[in-house]
Amino acid sequence: MASSKKFQAPRGTRDFYPADMAVRRYIEGVWRTASINHGFDEVEGPTIEHIDLYTHKSGPGIVNELFQVYSGKDEQQIAAIRAGDDAPYALRPEFTPTLARMVVAKAAQLPKPIKWFAIPGHYRAERPQRGRLREFIQWNVDYVGGEDDPARADAEVIACAVGALEKFGLGPGDVKVHVFDRRIAESRAKASGVEGDRFLSLLWLIDNMGKLSDEQIRAEVEKHGITQKDVLSFQEHFRRAKALSASGQPMEQVGAEIGLSKELVANVAQVMNNLGGIGLGPWLTFDPDIVRGLAYYTGTVFEIIAEGERAVAGGGRYDRLIESFGGPSMPACGFGMGDVVLGLLLHDKGLLPEEVYMQPLRPHVFVIAASDDTAAKLPAIVARLRKAGLHVRHSYRSTRNVGKLLGEAGKAFARTAIILGEELAAGRVALKDLDGGEQREVALDELETVLRQLLDAQERAGV
Ligand code: HAM
Repeated sequence: MASSKKFQAPRGTRDFYPADMAVRRYIEGVWRTASINHGFDEVEGPTIEHIDLYTHKSGPGIVNELFQVYSGKDEQQIAAIRAGDDAPYALRPEFTPTLARMVVAKAAQLPKPIKWFAIPGHYRAERPQRGRLREFIQWNVDYVGGEDDPARADAEVIACAVGALEKFGLGPGDVKVHVFDRRIAESRAKASGVEGDRFLSLLWLIDNMGKLSDEQIRAEVEKHGITQKDVLSFQEHFRRAKALSASGQPMEQVGAEIGLSKELVANVAQVMNNLGGIGLGPWLTFDPDIVRGLAYYTGTVFEIIAEGERAVAGGGRYDRLIESFGGPSMPACGFGMGDVVLGLLLHDKGLLPEEVYMQPLRPHVFVIAASDDTAAKLPAIVARLRKAGLHVRHSYRSTRNVGKLLGEAGKAFARTAIILGEELAAGRVALKDLDGGEQREVALDELETVLRQLLDAQERAGV
């Protein structure tokens, strides 16, 4: 007998069965709607990029987690990899370098500000754990150039993220936007003699402290001389500021209380005031523990966090990245929000009932045959309605037990049902509104018109 081998999906990846796919499309749909509402245009880039796009600026966190890719059976590449070189390509671990490359390629032609969003798949060779996988979807929202008031652009991208969270049914009691500014971190680090690469190392350690093994921490300490003590003393310095902001004190006051200069606090205060001005104040908290691990951030940094979970989203301002990719000097800011932590959160809070994520997939009509005779006519009626552009499903059996078949229509979340009964011989069918419950008889040649009217009425009623 031939031996059979069982295959499993790679660790940290997911199979999306229809119900999982419906959830994914629902999440993507809310992201897409929020982006469009806030005036962002959708873009996409390749899944593989030249590996040096990432080794250039993203920093060690991302580079150590690259899935490397080589092309086919290219002997030269294979020999180089065997000799210890990196592969020529990598699977995309984040979208920002692709975005920077795309902006640089058409910097002069693109209308400013450039407001883009993307919802691509990403790959990171991380240790899979709750909230972190090796393949995930990440919504990116970025605002590049054309802005002489950076705090306004920062507030605009944060408002877009919050807009989506609100649509999902989350509130400021569930998640908070933790805001900080790299320049405040830099000034504090400088005061204790930490600059340049050592500063980046400090940021990376702060960002990863809870996640790193002792061995990884030791290796980093050896490389740059930054110790756990440096991390703790940095955090200790800001502890009071964090508590004051959490208790609702305005940023200007928080800064003054811990001796930060007005200039240093001005940006983060302005971002928070701008958001406060549009009613988003309760979502915000000043949090100096949020420094972000990625190397390219230059100003405002933020993460969206639900207590006890990994971050739902992270982002910030990266004013020098476009230039470092060979483009003009262009300020930029944005964030990435993954589907994994968000999905866990929505699930745990009961915000993912089937009726919600199935809503965009609801069939317009479910056609039922109540006898074998009418079953023979079902395919033609279904085909006619599909040709008219409707989402049509139907029962695959005929029975006089119409209630049972209506049950199938209900399980499919159909909006209406057409029942093919005895009156079909006289050119008439029963049309049932599955939301309102009413049923009426309709002549076959008026079916599309009456059905459209009913669907329009349902839409107006918001069902
Ligand atoms: P990031 O903090 O590396 O930032 O990722 C942003 C979000 O992507 C995280 O908060 C999380 O929701 C999700 N994410 C990251 N890694 C994983 C993973 N292994 N599994 C599941 N979800 C994950 C960036 O990627 C920046 N490029 C974001 C950005 C855009 N900054 C400016 N523009």
